[in-house]
Parts: sequence; structure tokens; C-alpha cells
Amino acid sequence: MLDTLSAQAPDALLALIKMHAADSRDDKIDLGVGVYRTNEGATPVFRAIKQAERKLLDVQDSKSYLGPEGDGGFVKALMPYIFGEGSPLASRIEGMQTPGGTGAVRLAVALAVKAGVKRIFLGVPSWPNHAQILEDVGVEVVTFNHASEDGTADLAAVLGAIRDAKGDGAVLLHGCCHNPTGIDYTDTQWAAIADAFAETGLLPILDIAYQGLGQGMEEDVAGVRAVLAKVPEALIAYSCDKNFGLYRDRVGAFYMMAREEGQLAAIASNANALARANWSMPPDHGGAAVRLLLEDEGMTSTWLEELDEMRTRMRRVRDRLGAADNEVPGLGLAALAEQNGLFAMLPLTKDQIASLREDHAIYMAGSGRINVAGLHAGNIDKFIAALGDVTKG
Ligand code: LMR
Repeated sequence: MLDTLSAQAPDALLALIKMHAADSRDDKIDLGVGVYRTNEGATPVFRAIKQAERKLLDVQDSKSYLGPEGDGGFVKALMPYIFGEGSPLASRIEGMQTPGGTGAVRLAVALAVKAGVKRIFLGVPSWPNHAQILEDVGVEVVTFNHASEDGTADLAAVLGAIRDAKGDGAVLLHGCCHNPTGIDYTDTQWAAIADAFAETGLLPILDIAYQGLGQGMEEDVAGVRAVLAKVPEALIAYSCDKNFGLYRDRVGAFYMMAREEGQLAAIASNANALARANWSMPPDHGGAAVRLLLEDEGMTSTWLEELDEMRTRMRRVRDRLGAADNEVPGLGLAALAEQNGLFAMLPLTKDQIASLREDHAIYMAGSGRINVAGLHAGNIDKFIAALGDVTKG
């Protein structure tokens, strides 16, 4: 039976981690998978998380099962950050913990399909795992253009998707720090998107994986909040991988917003059943640490300071890349200074990307995506020079 299975290509992004690790050149640069790095190129555990983990070790008195919903305190503690302090929507929202943002996206898609959604509209390019999840759940994917040539978001395309999805469709949008382009909708664009959702009554699926790493904690969810204020129902996937640095601990949350409070229990019971069949229960450790952190004022302000440092550092890298527009013409580097988060797309050919890897020890996704957090004072000049080298006519 098992010999009927043909070999699958490894996930290209995850394969890059191994290729980079196997490269013995001292000056290698990793711009592949989306992890934050400091000016020294490290991905340390957040100071606030270390503190919370120490406390967790002291206070946790059982590791008995919690259930498919996971840690309810964790799920509730995140809500003011996502939906706003004292949001009037809170009574129509129910949440549960998931294994990472990936688990939350998976649950959102599976629940939407269970509720009758037949087609999911996805702006491309997108995080490659979005398409893989949609395919695995078995829902039809309809793509639309995410970005225009000029490095801004294609508003007409997303409005067209919302119009076309009417009926049995749903639209999946990135809340902030778009992966892979770094191109977010502006406030005015979000307002138009919110109006379009309201007019069509369509189900938005909103994926928030980088809150705090674009413009700020509040700014990064302003678009999501604008949509939620106008629509009857929505599904929201949330990741703590990057903004709490908990990548390998798999910490995420999934929120369901219902038309009326009274419908929440039935909707959540379906999400519960799906979670039970998929992973039974989410891993506890990271979610419990986030809960303890958010319950403590001191740890919370340390965490917010750490996020500020990260965002400011990435902004500096973006500004430097933007200023290199004249040094390496033709790549549209100026636009990077206006974009948000960890990622940006460079219009490089496959050969140029291969040459960056082979001749310059610079690792980036085959799509042309770079993780700007992999750049710092010690390697950014080398990167810009290498770009010049591989693009010179
Ligand atoms: C990325 O896009 O690099 C991250 O979201 C990591 C992942 O799981 O793909």
C-alpha cells in the first residue's frame, strides 16, 4: 500500500534552513525563513518570555489535559490587543488556542468549509502554506492579484474578489505585514474593503501573524478592526510565533465572530470538534507563558519594549535598503522603506537568486522574497553590493 506514494518535494522554505546550516562560509547571510534576528544575527528568547517561563515553572501544578480549546486565559488575554480594549464586539467573539498560526488558519478554513463555503479567494503571492492548507482541506482556491507593479496593494483586485465571492465564497486576507510582499492595505483601502464586505455580507478570514512588527500594536490591527466593525461574521487566525518569539512552541489562537452572541456556542462546538479530530489539544507551554506575561504589568511592558526595538531595527534596515535604490537600480528598493514587517519581494531571476547563494552565500526564497530581519549593520553593505553584482548588465 505505502509503496503507491510518490516522493514529495520538501517545503522549499524549510529546505533553505538546512541548506544555510550546511554552508560553512563565515559570512553567509540567511534571508530565508521568517524569523526575527537581532543586530548580531541571533534569535534570542524574549526577556519577558524568559521571565514568564520561570514563573510558569514555579506556579504550574499540573500538566493534565485542558481540552481542545487550550488555555482560555491565554485566549482572553490576547483579545484587547487584537480587538481593542473594551471592544463592543467582544460579546460576539469566542476563541480557542491553536498549534501556531498555522493551526488557526487550518481551523478557520475547515470551519468555513463546514459552514458551506465552497471557494476561498486568496491574494497572490501569499504565504505558500496558505495554498497548501486550502488544497489539503479540499476547497477551491480562486486567486487575485495582491500587489500592483508600483509596490502598493491592488485595491481594485481585492474589491473585485469580494464582489465575485458573493454567495458561497470567503476571502482570506493578511491583517498586517503581508507575507511575502510587505505590502499592506492603507487605512483608506481597508475602509473600502470593510464597506465591500459589509455590502456583500461575505465571510472574511483574517490572518494576523505579525502584530506589532509593522507600524505598532494598535496600528497593525486597525484594518482588521475596521472590517470587523462592519461585518456580521468573521474568522480570525492569530500567531504568537514572531511577536512573542515562540516559533517552535507553536502558539496561536483562533477567534470566531458571530452575528449574535447566542450563536457562538454552536459555532465554537464545531471548531472544537475539528480541533479534536486534527490535533486533539494544542501544546500548552507557550500559551501559558504568554498568559502569565500578559497578566503581569511589568512583563507586559518589557515585552512591548522588546517589540518596539525589533520594529525600529527592521525600519532602519528598510530605510537603508530604500536609500540603496540608486546603488542598485531596477529592483524597486525605494518601495521597501514604505512597506511593513519581515518580508519584501525583489524582482530577481532564478539565476540571480542562485548566484547570490552560490557566489555570495546569501540565502533567500526562490520566489525572490527576503526576510529583512536577516540584515543588520554587519552584513547589509555586503548584501547591497552582492545585489549590484548579480544584477549588473
Ligand atoms: C515564513 O513565511 O517564513 C514563516 O511564516 C515560517 C513558515 O512557517 O513558513
